[in-house]
Amino acid sequence: EKGGYDHFMLKEIFEQPTTIYDCLRGRLDAETGNITMSGIQKYAEQIMNANRIMIVACGTSWHAGLVAEYIIEELCRIPVEVEYASEFRYRNPIINKGDVIIAISQSGETADTLVAIEKAKEQGAIILGIVNAVGSSIARISHAGAYTHAGPEIGVASTKAFTAQLAVLTMTALMLGQQKGTLDRDKFLLLCKELAAIPEKAEIVLKLDSQIKALAEKYKDAADALFLGRGYNFPVALEGALKLKEISYIHAEGYPAAEMKHGPIALVTDQLPVVFVATKDSYHEKVVSNMQEIKARKGKIIAVITEGDTVTPTLADDVIIIPAAHEIVAPMLSVITLQLFSYYVGVAKGYDVDKPRNLAKSVTVE
Ligand code: M6R
Repeated sequence: EKGGYDHFMLKEIFEQPTTIYDCLRGRLDAETGNITMSGIQKYAEQIMNANRIMIVACGTSWHAGLVAEYIIEELCRIPVEVEYASEFRYRNPIINKGDVIIAISQSGETADTLVAIEKAKEQGAIILGIVNAVGSSIARISHAGAYTHAGPEIGVASTKAFTAQLAVLTMTALMLGQQKGTLDRDKFLLLCKELAAIPEKAEIVLKLDSQIKALAEKYKDAADALFLGRGYNFPVALEGALKLKEISYIHAEGYPAAEMKHGPIALVTDQLPVVFVATKDSYHEKVVSNMQEIKARKGKIIAVITEGDTVTPTLADDVIIIPAAHEIVAPMLSVITLQLFSYYVGVAKGYDVDKPRNLAKSVTVE
């Protein structure tokens, strides 16, 4: 059932070219620029005219929400707030009739997310569910939404569900931005093509498997790790840190790269690995100067970068080079390297990566 892989987590990481493809299949026609998402389309008018969109989720799904915030604001010019479901449900949030709430959940059974949307629904909000498990509670209670079609995810660490969530959310933003007119036709078509090219590029990223395994063995005894990124890659840094914590029990923190100088930089010594998600994008120059700040303090830099980048290799101790992709879709590639990294650190330390201690696959208690 593990299809020849040692663990479900590894199998699911390697399934990503297929799962992302399955998620786009039948919905995105990159040639003609057609996006068909009937559940979302039903509420397209309300979403486009909403004063704001609230995204509620937990854990990895919350990280997908953060990426979506940047994408929806950029392409659709609708204000987006991303909330931890557990905080949202208890703090008497202001919800008006017609507000749009997007709930993101792999399992569709996460108690905090479920209760949060139940309450918001009673108050008149429109609930869209981005869910992997078909027929799950969150899918049933949502007014509409879209399934991620990643297939069952068995490993406790979420991997393929995350990239499928990003694929669905990106398609949603593209569809709405184009209808709303906030996204011009050329950019829309370009982004459709960029999105459609992700499965193939993910395949190339997976070829880095043995290189990443060697890196994981090199850094496995670190006591702590810092993950940094900006813009679309900031949530990827958070996700890289969460994966490492879950699977290898190494204390890790994810930060927006520039925020590091407001505190975490005090942690930097020659013993601290600092993972930069530094693919080529509009933030790149800024990320490079953050990297210089870490290098000046002798931190060990591991950088996930884009092929052709000649600057970061002169600063980093180790580089992981991935194919070029538009910044909006790049997180689906950069995150795969961090999934593999945490997987191999966990394995090198002899841990049960499919069932990390103290964790359950779905958190159905609050
Ligand atoms: O099933 P959900 O997406 O609602 O689950 C949310 C979180 O519990 C989940 O993402 C958790 O953080 C994972 N263990 C992350 O790998």
